[in-house]
Amino acid sequence: MTQAPPPPAGGDTSASPELQIKGSLRLPPGLKLNLPFYFFRHFFQPGNPILLFEYLQKFGRAAHYRLLWNHIVLLNDPSDIREVLIDKAQFFIKERTQKRMKILLGEGLITSDGEIHKRHRRIAAPTFHRQRIQGYAETIVAQAAAMRDRWQPDVEIDIAAEMMHLALGITARTLFNTEVTAEIEAINDESNAVMEIYNALISLPRAEALLRWRVPIPALRRFRKSKRRLDSVVDGMIAARQREMADSDARGEEPGTDLLSMLIAARDEEAVAEGRPGLTSAELRDEVMTLFLAGYETVANALSWTWLLLGQNPEAEARLHQELNQVLGDRLPTIEDLPNLKYTEMVLAESMRLYPPAWAMGRQATQEIDIGPYRLPKGCFVFFSQYIVQRSEKYFPSPRHFHPERFTPEAKADRPRFAYFPFGGGGRQCIGESFAWMEATLVLATLAQRWQLNLSQNQRLELQPKITLRPKFGIHVIPEYR
Ligand code: HEM
Repeated sequence: MTQAPPPPAGGDTSASPELQIKGSLRLPPGLKLNLPFYFFRHFFQPGNPILLFEYLQKFGRAAHYRLLWNHIVLLNDPSDIREVLIDKAQFFIKERTQKRMKILLGEGLITSDGEIHKRHRRIAAPTFHRQRIQGYAETIVAQAAAMRDRWQPDVEIDIAAEMMHLALGITARTLFNTEVTAEIEAINDESNAVMEIYNALISLPRAEALLRWRVPIPALRRFRKSKRRLDSVVDGMIAARQREMADSDARGEEPGTDLLSMLIAARDEEAVAEGRPGLTSAELRDEVMTLFLAGYETVANALSWTWLLLGQNPEAEARLHQELNQVLGDRLPTIEDLPNLKYTEMVLAESMRLYPPAWAMGRQATQEIDIGPYRLPKGCFVFFSQYIVQRSEKYFPSPRHFHPERFTPEAKADRPRFAYFPFGGGGRQCIGESFAWMEATLVLATLAQRWQLNLSQNQRLELQPKITLRPKFGIHVIPEYR
């Protein structure tokens, strides 16, 4: 599918191959000229940073380039990534693109830093504890089972669209305890609209200020309108749930078990003395939007790519079917089956290696800092890409091959921690990881138990690396009864 562009004819004279010593700094080798020059010369497309990152791999452990006045470093080595995410995490904040998501997500877990992030994480963490989320297994299986009953043999479907729809339904139920109602559709449509504009917006310098100053540009006006509508729908749902909870509290009943009810009820014991133990309505809104957007598209993409890979790899598919026959027979999966669905989980792990839904992450250094053999300047942006590192020959021989056996416990123990990091790591590791594994495993098991999905002949495959890694033209399959 995507391929690194060939080096410019006549050798790449625009690259500095050696470590670059500049004053106290030791920068990795990299591109000599400012990045826009390469866009201008059509070496890379601005819309597909994976091509750039693939090209930069030729510099080895890390690569340096400049975008206008900013220093940017791409790290490819798991030990350097570990330093940024764990050992020296206190010297980094979220990089600018993620921070700019504040215009959509406010001060939610993804966008906030420092004390605000710590407090919100403390409050939200118990909600996502493995034990608390187990109750969602039945909902997940019921929704997947309803979908598998709707499919018809030999009638082509776009499995990427189906997985989005399914994951949206599961999010509606587990986050808000509702069907995909008009309100949920509104949240989905408006956030998609906002995202479309947002993708264009974040490339504008000072996008936040342009929005704040109410500059009368049509796209900005549309963004503000969608955002207002989003806020009012989400605020309405939170207020309704708060009222319901107050009523059931007065009747001495337990609060609901959906994520929203749990977040409303969550308390930060460390802040009781300060008189602000829970999340305010505005904070709840930001977290709800964050969970809504972080939670469903990622899982849907993980599942979509898995169907593609299973369609391309009949041996792995046969082994998966064999496990489902042995463990489940004809009955639907339950939470108790998860420890026995080992191969199903390995299939998903290998799929997220090749097509990680979160395909890159970034941070910004708050001071001059040593990472591996390098000394990076204050303000330097540091990126690392799951898509790139997880396709490294060093840790995954024949990296393009789909081989779930790479995820046996023994094989995993042989690799450094950050050779594989689809859920990030350190203090900001994905809070929904257990939820995502549970959801993806149960959905895959429920659907593959009934159907084999054969890839349609006229498939057009292209990566679309937006905030998540999507298949640009969907994935078209023809269901066949097993
Ligand atoms: C396959 C599915 C998923 C993948 C691949 C994924 C990936 C990630 C990654 C890589 C991060 C770290 C970002 C960074 O440090 O810059 C992250 C953070 C986060 N994820 Fe997920 N995620 C998934 C599912 C979910 C689900 C189901 C939820 C919630 C229901 C969720 C909620 C979050 C939140 C709130 C954060 C921010 C955590 C923090 O900074 O404290 N994610 N996710």
